[in-house]
Amino acid sequence: MTKELENNTFKSMSINEVFSNPFDSSTSIQMSLKKRGKYLNIIIDAEAFLNERKFSKCFEILKPLFKFYKEHEVLEIKKRIKYNFTFMKEKTPFQKKIKWKQISEMTSFDDLFMSKKIKKLRKEFISIYGFDFTKSSLHIRAAKTNKKQISNKDQHFLHLDEKKGLTTIIYLTHTNQENGAFRYVKDSEKLEYSNILKSFHEINHTFKKDKKILPEEINFDLDYYQCLDTEKRKILENNLEWIEGDPGTEVTFCGNKLLHGGGVPQAGSRSAIFISHYGLLFHRLKQLL
Ligand SMILES: [Fe+2]
Repeated sequence: MTKELENNTFKSMSINEVFSNPFDSSTSIQMSLKKRGKYLNIIIDAEAFLNERKFSKCFEILKPLFKFYKEHEVLEIKKRIKYNFTFMKEKTPFQKKIKWKQISEMTSFDDLFMSKKIKKLRKEFISIYGFDFTKSSLHIRAAKTNKKQISNKDQHFLHLDEKKGLTTIIYLTHTNQENGAFRYVKDSEKLEYSNILKSFHEINHTFKKDKKILPEEINFDLDYYQCLDTEKRKILENNLEWIEGDPGTEVTFCGNKLLHGGGVPQAGSRSAIFISHYGLLFHRLKQLL
């Protein structure tokens, strides 16, 4: 497929048609095009056990890969595998426009917490992840033009989030591609990801693992765009959707399945409210089962 990727055949295709198998290096969004070694079959078998909820067998078979990690990292990998198995859910991102007056009349976070909007979003969160007693958190993020030269990496930070979650971003300033608008890869939430590969990538990211010492099957981190080969990057670029708009523009998405990112402003500045939600009881219990 590499040759086909090169001759632009895939330019007009959606990413679901191209990235169809997480374990086939030519069609995986979680592996590069390089040939695979002895660990690929182990991962495929482990994923099959995971899908049957046979966690101990899954972990047993992954032992040869655990030797590349310290003891506490292995414990964390096991936790993440269970977590991702439970909480990787598909949700098509949705965009709305909130009346600016509605936002500007709120003079404190408390006003926003009590608003119908947050209640509605919490209901949405529960409809995706199941019932729980929930807590919402809000914070404002601002970014301005960076004086140092902006690298390709700054502009293409297309990643998956580690934890489950429905995130809502509401712009407080006019935001466009120049000042680092939110962008995502269309339909990436519908891709079949390997929960095992994603769990290794999370640990590589969290513990800043030296990728040179890791087998090629698992040496990504969560910044998938930067880890992928040029041919595959082009496909992601061709399927980018930008959220540009005035204050009050809102986008809601599940960041652990949607490839997304925000850029470093090349000009001007931007700020936005970020809203997320947490399950306080049942979601935690699910991870222990
Ligand atoms: Fe993110």
